[in-house]
Amino acid sequence: MTSTIKLTALAFLAGIAALPVAAGAQTKPKAADPALVDAYIKSTFGKASPEWQQRITPDETLKTCNAYRNDVPPAEAEAITKRELAKVVYPSDGKYLGDWKSGAKIANNGRGGQFSDPPDTVSGGNCYACHQMEQAEVSYGTLGPSLMHYGKDRKYAPEDIKAAYTKIYDSQAVFACSNMPRFGANKVLSEQQIKDLVAFLFDPESPVNK
Ligand code: HEC
Repeated sequence: MTSTIKLTALAFLAGIAALPVAAGAQTKPKAADPALVDAYIKSTFGKASPEWQQRITPDETLKTCNAYRNDVPPAEAEAITKRELAKVVYPSDGKYLGDWKSGAKIANNGRGGQFSDPPDTVSGGNCYACHQMEQAEVSYGTLGPSLMHYGKDRKYAPEDIKAAYTKIYDSQAVFACSNMPRFGANKVLSEQQIKDLVAFLFDPESPVNK
């Protein structure tokens, strides 16, 4: 996951910056050498598949977001949403709603995509890291908006169901330099897993809508 790479780099930088402070030194911490950071990140990808190794190099979209520190000018933002929308693969059967019970589990699962995970680990969506979803779950992050009553509030409208699929498949197809991972485009989640998550948001029986 893109954000994993960013976080790893941040943790590394924070580690370096914290050292002199902890030792009580008066000197300002030096900025980390970017080549050193790159080498460190590469070293953490030891067991990853060649496809994941490739992800160390930012793609066109991430390069632009990095260059502008996510504050992209309108023309760049438009180029990003256009490029990312072209990556979205919609279900061939035209059905966006899977099984909400399975979606609930995927939303709650934060495993996968870490260098310490066995290669056959099925990734979860880790949605609660950033979103409130069903009311009964009290542990959630607030980086993203609350998704409680998401389907109900949208009257279960077909165009909103499709929009949610697009958002989960590739968040940057909707909002350039979004902090939300591009779950489908980056092959973190399968089409079926995304359908199950859409059902978790849009099935009237789902606890999200209770
Ligand atoms: C790292 C944080 C993060 C994670 C993890 C995350 N999201 Fe998001 N999400 C966001 C942010 C931030 C937004 C607000 C719009 C934007 O910046 O893209 C958002 C927006 C959304 C929206 C659109 C909300 C609206 O305003 O209509 C949906 C739907 C959504 N997320 C679903 C999910 C699902 C489902 C998952 C798990 C598979 C997930 N998100 C995981 C950060 C996250």
